[in-house]
Amino acid sequence: MLVPIVLIALGAGAVEAASDGAGLRLCGDPDNLPFSHAGDGERGIYVDVAEHVAARLGVRTEYVWWHTAYGKRAIRNTLLADRCDAFFGVPHDPDFMSRDLILTRPFLDVGWAIIAPRALEFSSVDDLKARRLAVVFRSTPQLLLASRGGFRTVTFRTDEAALEALVAGEVDAAFVWGPTAGYHNHTKLGGAYRVVLVAGEGLQWQAAVALRKGREDLRDRIDDALAALRPEIRRAAERYGFPAGPAMALATTTPAADGDSIAAGRSLFNQHCSHCHAPNAMSPEPSRDLRRLRLRYGAVAAEVFYTTVTRGRPDKGMPTWSNLDTGAVQRLWMFVDSVQTPR
Ligand code: HEC
Repeated sequence: MLVPIVLIALGAGAVEAASDGAGLRLCGDPDNLPFSHAGDGERGIYVDVAEHVAARLGVRTEYVWWHTAYGKRAIRNTLLADRCDAFFGVPHDPDFMSRDLILTRPFLDVGWAIIAPRALEFSSVDDLKARRLAVVFRSTPQLLLASRGGFRTVTFRTDEAALEALVAGEVDAAFVWGPTAGYHNHTKLGGAYRVVLVAGEGLQWQAAVALRKGREDLRDRIDDALAALRPEIRRAAERYGFPAGPAMALATTTPAADGDSIAAGRSLFNQHCSHCHAPNAMSPEPSRDLRRLRLRYGAVAAEVFYTTVTRGRPDKGMPTWSNLDTGAVQRLWMFVDSVQTPR
């Protein structure tokens, strides 16, 4: 358990609040890269942005460091206790401690992401059902995947442990905190992995700056500065490896089978599968006759098809097709589905 323990005032003694034109006192977590960090080296994006803001306002900065493992408590002990003027990195949610706080505009997108080797093809979270997927105990992704069902999750204590397992090849992908994944990929893995944000309820949020009620004037000035600093903020996010780009959906809506997709699927089939399953899937050998999938598996035929193709049945002589991308497997299914025997 992290208890607030560190209180360091940097700079030359007491500095008056920014509204008096003297300095801007900022609260931050001393050990929370890529967001903030006390001491030498990288300072984290919140500190970088705060420094840009202060420079625009023409004021000096002073930091009050406080562990933020318990966000609301940290805010009570720092911002609301008048130990600082602004707290960077509060959820941009009008209901967040709204009796005491006012917020600026959001300045940074943060959320949960999937990190995986670049060679792994997926266009939705559901595409990873056949894979070993690392999650953190009691995290939003763990709860979400458990409620959706059908995933092969492996649970870890921390994001870092999940990332280590990924690099060691013990899991195929990890569904973890995006900024941590991005920063780790950027600083320790040479950007070798792909980090994709995942869209969905509770998975993405935006960070804003919080101030005490009554500091509307300072809030408006910080707001103006944040608006003007968009390019700097974007560059800082890139520098720390924050995942960017459109968030991926949880499920892919399977495109409706049309003549072209079926024809494309048939051609893929005759290229990759026909030497074992016969041209156009017309195998006389029942265990290999893919026209009987619906008869055999009913409602889960598509699921069996997908799982068998992506994982194979190595002990039975059915190879694993991990090199076929999601679209190709989908088209193969559309073709196979179109030749099912009715009964
Ligand atoms: C080297 C031979 C071989 C190739 C190539 C091959 N398969 Fe198979 N496949 C098999 C065998 C053998 C089985 C039966 C496994 C068993 O008995 O459980 C099988 C089973 C399957 C099943 C499950 C059938 C069932 O009724 O449970 C599906 C689906 C399938 N293959 C799809 C494909 C697709 C799609 C391709 C091409 C991308 C493909 N296979 C390529 C050998 C192959």
